[in-house]
Amino acid sequence: MKVEQLYTKCLSEATYFIASNGEAAIIDPLREIAPYIAMAKKDVVRIKYVFLTHFHADFVSGHVDLARVTGATIVYGPTATADFKFHEGKDNEEFKIGDVTLKLLHTPGHTLESSSFLLFNELKKEHCLFSGDALFIGDVGRPDLAVSSLVTREDLAEKLYYSLHEKIMKLPDDIIIYPNHGKGSACGKNMSNETFDTLGNQKKVNYALNLNLSKEEFVKQILDGLTEPPQYFPKNALMNKKVNTPVEELLAKGLTAISANQFKNCTNMQDVLFLDVRSPKEFAERHISNSIFIGLDGAFAPWVGVLIENINQPIILIAPEGREEETITRLSRIGYDNVLGYIEGGIRAWNNEGLNVNELLTLNANDIELLDDECSFFDVRKIGEYDENCVKNAEHFPLDHIYLSAKDKDKNKEQYVYCAGGYRSVIAISILNRLGFKKLININGGFTEITKSNIPLKIYKNNCTASACSK
Ligand SMILES: [Fe+2]
Repeated sequence: MKVEQLYTKCLSEATYFIASNGEAAIIDPLREIAPYIAMAKKDVVRIKYVFLTHFHADFVSGHVDLARVTGATIVYGPTATADFKFHEGKDNEEFKIGDVTLKLLHTPGHTLESSSFLLFNELKKEHCLFSGDALFIGDVGRPDLAVSSLVTREDLAEKLYYSLHEKIMKLPDDIIIYPNHGKGSACGKNMSNETFDTLGNQKKVNYALNLNLSKEEFVKQILDGLTEPPQYFPKNALMNKKVNTPVEELLAKGLTAISANQFKNCTNMQDVLFLDVRSPKEFAERHISNSIFIGLDGAFAPWVGVLIENINQPIILIAPEGREEETITRLSRIGYDNVLGYIEGGIRAWNNEGLNVNELLTLNANDIELLDDECSFFDVRKIGEYDENCVKNAEHFPLDHIYLSAKDKDKNKEQYVYCAGGYRSVIAISILNRLGFKKLININGGFTEITKSNIPLKIYKNNCTASACSK
């Protein structure tokens, strides 16, 4: 028996590959299916099943393609409905994969059809639980994504309580919990760095499995502090119920090289968005006017999903040479399927053609001359980071609510913009410049560098005195 976790850091997502005696199953596959087919080929196994723990909201899965290409059966939990053919599994139904067995446990709460899969090894002993978004390491799935006119988030939270207490927590303590997500995913709020753990240990450390919590306290705790889900979540959940375009077709379209000259002579490309996925440094040095920066070497897909509001947006890429296919694939994982091509020769060719390029004003923290309160700062980090410590008088301007925050701001005022290390601040400035801001300056290296400079901070966390600490 082989159990492999395939963890994708950009999405904080875990897919699983199970193989035994010539047969295999995939749990919660990502959109692109070639890696799973390659694994099955290498292990000389036939993919028999594709199991989905639930209709994912934070990525688009490739289950329909995988089933079409391999002949595998798609399995969802009870109550699932979709536009494609699948097997609606029953609670406690068993599925054979070679010499091992996977048992479906209906564990509603995160969503109504949410199910976990318990793996019995060749000796018929419980080995591990693929817990989907019912149980994470350090957390449980948020119960507010599948609310409808028939079911409230409180109803779903109660269902999750029963799923945990009456099903999952009754399993042997030594089984391994393999969740669908890890730290950084917006499907939960308090996940650990680890991507698996034993159930026994989770009973000790996971707040949601605390036996002393009453049902009412549990509901209150898991609903407390939930933030608005990102705008692309409902769109991805809908896509997962439909048949989507295979990634090969998206690549065939998106891998079209567009020369700067061709673009210049094109009049029907007014509504395209230039998406620059290079490094923050390269973007700062030179970029196409009005392009948006979201670099590949960061939480690329989630930021695209949060910040590009039209999922059907026609996109032209400015990508590092040789990473165009990776970019289109990663965009497809969250349903951004409308890549028209990429600029051949990148920014250099664009510049050579005499087309508009801009640079981004950037300063090192040490080079900022502070003129008392005339200097103002936008802190684009998350609220938790801002609350922990920030530049004195910095205004909180979180990247995930940038369009809302930008509405009432003076676009002609000089502002320094920073995040933790210089990735999110460049994203923010690229968007704000499109919205008409004219005097934004990026701080190189972000807050990490600021703490080494003379810029005064609001809170001195490790050395807090009454006079230095204003909050
Ligand atoms: Fe989920």
